[in-house]
Amino acid sequence: MKIAIAADHGGYELKNRIADYLIELGHTVTDFGTNSADSVDYPDYAFLASKAVADNSHEFGILICGSGIGMSICANKVKGIRCALCSEPVSARLSRQHNDANMLALGARIIGVEMAKAIVDAFLNEKFEGGRHEKRVSKIECCDINS
Ligand code: RB5
Repeated sequence: MKIAIAADHGGYELKNRIADYLIELGHTVTDFGTNSADSVDYPDYAFLASKAVADNSHEFGILICGSGIGMSICANKVKGIRCALCSEPVSARLSRQHNDANMLALGARIIGVEMAKAIVDAFLNEKFEGGRHEKRVSKIECCDINS
């Protein structure tokens, strides 16, 4: 699969580990940075990767910051993105089955590398169940403050 990945300074080390892991698994990874511990603003990186998923050039995206919260808030502002912030695999699996999540946010100050890998595995190996969830997910897309 083609996967977009991005992080801020709080997440870049874990981002590099996860990018390597994804490549090991045979995925194609586009790394949108950042690539050092120099302080940056997470929205800049979140939006780069989110746009790459929203324009369908990448099937999934993974965002990492200190808590995962800032990254997930930004991603969910992008039309077409459904980003799940997960700190264990069950939520990651459910985010695919029920919410058709197309991006995963992780908190590098919350979880370790092995947990992050387990969450990524759960996310990428699960499918959207469709059915009753289809209508609910379509309502997310239609949400508009004027309607
Ligand atoms: C950076 O210090 C930190 O605020 C950021 O990585 C993230 O946790 C924001 O949600």
